Formats: sequence, C-alpha cells, structure tokens
Amino acid sequence: MLKLSQPNISDAAITAVANVLRSGQLVHGEESETFERELAAYLGCSEVILVSSGTAALHVALLALDIGAGDAVIVPDFTFPATANVVAMTGARVIIADVMPGTYTLDVTQLKNIAENWQGPERLRAVMPVHEFGCVANMKEISQIAKMHHLAVIEDAACALGASLDGRKAGTLGDLGCFSFHPRKTLTTGEGGAIATNNRELAARIRRLRNHGMERSEQGIRFLEPATNYRLTNFQAALGRVQLPLLDNWIQLRHDLVKSYLKALTPLIKKKWLRCPLEKDGHSWQTFMVVLDESFNRNEVIANLREQGIETNLGAQSLTSIGIYGKSQINLIFGPLLYTQGLALPLFERMAQSDVTHVTTALTKTLFDLNKK
Ligand SMILES: Cc1ncc(COP(=O)(O)O)c(C=O)c1O
Repeated sequence: MLKLSQPNISDAAITAVANVLRSGQLVHGEESETFERELAAYLGCSEVILVSSGTAALHVALLALDIGAGDAVIVPDFTFPATANVVAMTGARVIIADVMPGTYTLDVTQLKNIAENWQGPERLRAVMPVHEFGCVANMKEISQIAKMHHLAVIEDAACALGASLDGRKAGTLGDLGCFSFHPRKTLTTGEGGAIATNNRELAARIRRLRNHGMERSEQGIRFLEPATNYRLTNFQAALGRVQLPLLDNWIQLRHDLVKSYLKALTPLIKKKWLRCPLEKDGHSWQTFMVVLDESFNRNEVIANLREQGIETNLGAQSLTSIGIYGKSQINLIFGPLLYTQGLALPLFERMAQSDVTHVTTALTKTLFDLNKK
C-alpha cells in the first residue's frame, strides 16, 4: 500500500534517542534546551519553548495571553479541530470564518467584517490563522486588521515548520507561533510541539505554564500560578534535532513531487473534475490536497484508490460541519466544500516520481470510471 505519509526516521535518529535513554536524563535537560535554541536559530526568532503537542502549544499560547471566559477568538473553518478545541477549553467563544478556495487559509475579507462589526457581548481578543498544509495565510493583511482591532495573532503553524512568507518563517509572523511534531508532520518527534515568539515576557510565562507554574531560583522552587505539565521529553528532542538540519531539503523534495502532481493532473483540471491548490512561494507542502468536483463522491474515490493500493484521505475538517462550537454567524461556503470534496494524496519526501505517476494514473482511471456511472 502506498501510504499517505511516512515518518522519516534514520538510524542516526534512533541512535540519538537511544543515547538519551541510556543517559537517564529523560525529561528536561540539554537535548531539549539545545533543540529550543536550534529551532529559534532556524526560525529566526528569539525564543522557542518545546511542549508535548501542537494542541498543547495552542492551549498554552491562549493561557499565556489570559484568554478565557468572556473573550472570543476568530479561527478558520477548515482546519484540524484542535484549533477550535483549545479556544473552547479556555471558556472563550469560538468565532468561525471561512477560508479561501486556492490556499485553504483564512478569508481576510470575512476576518475584517467580523472585526469591524463585532458587537460582543464577549471581548474579541485574538485571531488564530492556520497555515493549512504548509501554506502561509495572508499574514500581512491579517496583522494589519489585528493591529487595528487590538487582536493578538496566534499562528497555528502546526503544519508549517519551514514554510515562509517573503523570507520570514511561518510561526514568527504573529505574536506567538505554534508548531506540531505529530508523525503526519514533516519533522516528527512522535507527539510534540513548540511555540515561537520574540516576546521574552510571554516566553517566560509559557515556560512556567508548561511546567506546573513553577519557577526555579537560587532560593529554590516556587509555584507561581496554576498550570499544566506540557513538557516534551529529552529523547523526543533528540529525535527532532537529528531531523532539523534535513528539513529544508525534505521540503524541496516535496516541492518537486508537487510539481509533478500538478503537471500530471492538468487534464483532470481542464475537465473540471478537480481543482489543485495554488503553488504559493514558501509553501512547505506538508499535505497535497486536491478538491474533487461535487459530481464525485469522495468516499467512493478513496475506496477505489485503496483497491489500487493507494491510501488517500480527507484533508481536514470543517468546524461548522462538526457543529460543536456554536452556530456561525456567517454562511460559509468553502470550508464545508473542502471538507466534503477535499482529497489528500500521498506525499512524503521519500516517495518516488514513479509513485506520483502511479497515483495520478489511478486517480484518472477512477474518475473516468465513476463519471461513466
Ligand atoms: C492545523 C492543526 N492545528 C493543530 C493540530 C494539533 O497538533 P497535535 O496533533 O500535535 O496536537 C494539528 C494536528 O494535526 C493541525 O493540523
């Protein structure tokens, strides 16, 4: 079976993990602190704080900004539910805006409308753009709107380590940037995550919040506020450290595969049987998702491809379609459409060009067969 994605764990990474396990220093320590510094250097920001998952990163980011009951946060409809779950878990209200069809990222016109016409009763506190599948959201306009309306910007860069906009790395363009190292992401530590920021005060608070609200000084340990345990282990950090120097090359390999996909899928695009994502500069291509025409039943396509030895899946969820975050005030179009018609195709750096040909040939045959029905 050609898998949708495959973690890229080398023998060197396994040895690095084994070395940490032998050292007995399993939780905090040198590996984690070095990985934080290496990530900060890679991203070009002053602070990185490792945490136990992308969800933990988003949650602790909201906690650090004191967002909770009586507040509201704007999120895009098309994403993984963690983006909205963490907002709801703080007691804040989730406000859902639509996404754009070519990039699958937050529609800034809707963001502007929501911010300009906000009447409460909650205080609108933050916007959480998602760099979906590694495509950086329209951060210039989002930052301008946020500034005008005094909103914090928390980037959900779970899928976007290594993505960039005009030479600046995703996750460093807002107040706080949150990453995931889940095995579906290009760099993985099993579970894992990180928060990037240039704000030293927020970074200090986040370090405390991920570690029981604790601070060490010469006088000893003090517990300064109620908090969580969202620490990453040292052996996970070791796994991440081995992959980081390879990341840019892996992203380039993914770019090359996407180019081949786009070329091979052109006849299907011309027939209007599917649409492809925009090939934006700085995209890190964590996932390649096409959008099937509504005349096709996506589940039939998935089943058909599975029979031909190819794993495909839906790309992400639609928060309004899930329906547990309250009613959206606006009629959304693209989030729900991407949710029902989006088809994620296999993409990982160790895939061969011949695998792309296999997928596109099988997909073409499948759509021709289903179109005849
Ligand atoms: C956009 C987005 N946000 C948040 C998360 C949550 O990350 P994690 O699985 O590491 O908790 C994911 C994970 O898939 C994601 O895709």
